[in-house]
Amino acid sequence: MNLSNNTILITGGTSGIGLTFAEEFLKSGNTVIICGRRVERLDALEAKHPGLITITCDIADTKQREDLCDHVLKNYPETNILMNNAGIQLVADLTKPVDLEKIREEIETNLVAPIHLGSLFAQHLASKNDSALINISSGLAFVPIAFMPIYCATKAALHSLTLSWRHQLKNSSVKVFEIIPPSTDTELGHQRRADKSQSHGGLPLSEFITEAMEALKNDILEAPIGYAKGLRAKREEMFNVMNH
Ligand SMILES: NC(=O)c1ccc[n+]([C@@H]2O[C@H](COP(=O)([O-])OP(=O)(O)OC[C@H]3O[C@@H](n4cnc5c(N)ncnc54)[C@H](OP(=O)(O)O)[C@@H]3O)[C@@H](O)[C@H]2O)c1
Repeated sequence: MNLSNNTILITGGTSGIGLTFAEEFLKSGNTVIICGRRVERLDALEAKHPGLITITCDIADTKQREDLCDHVLKNYPETNILMNNAGIQLVADLTKPVDLEKIREEIETNLVAPIHLGSLFAQHLASKNDSALINISSGLAFVPIAFMPIYCATKAALHSLTLSWRHQLKNSSVKVFEIIPPSTDTELGHQRRADKSQSHGGLPLSEFITEAMEALKNDILEAPIGYAKGLRAKREEMFNVMNH
């Protein structure tokens, strides 16, 4: 895909992978729109990066997703790329009654929102000559870590969904990408950490973004990054390693 002259909406651009993509796309001459819930972060990023467009939106809310779509299509009709990036990662003990509210929030954020947003944007993207839908899944789509079973299931579902989406859009201009990050050093899972300053750990974002941009540039539609390559290739074998 062409890495410049696009208008890109990235869900969840206030930190981590989404923010790194936003900064990289800005550097290479794109218009970038990010959304997130943390208004103070969005304001600070707008001040830091002139040209960055920010929108406050909780993608776990149906109406806010519809408003986001309406706002973007009305004000930035040149938008030709949607990146479904926003996600949360919670733990769940399935041997006891679960907190359904938390389970629903995780599924709504990681799975329902990308389905809904992608479907709202699909016709618009298909009306552009050069367009893309980019879903950020996870190596854990292929090999679950059992203490966060819902997260892994949402990512497995997003992988499956991406295959179907690619098939449904195969006669259109929309390239459907799946970027499959390995464990990457972001704020992911901060909700479940007692010490909020503790990092997620994993691949430095600088290494992640170099490989991910290379995959997009070369039209590698299903792109496992770093360690995620092994998880995708050897899923059964890796289950015991990951859950040791
Ligand atoms: N880090 C890893 O090891 C790893 C590995 C594989 C896949 N991934 C995937 O990569 C994606 C990005 O995660 P990350 O690692 O960059 O984590 P992160 O630093 O925690 O970033 C998550 C982003 O999602 C946004 N977000 C979460 N819930 C939202 C909601 N309801 N509405 C709007 N925005 C929301 C957050 O913004 P606000 O809090 O401001 O709303 C934040 O910008 C996720 O889909 C994650 O599953 C990460």
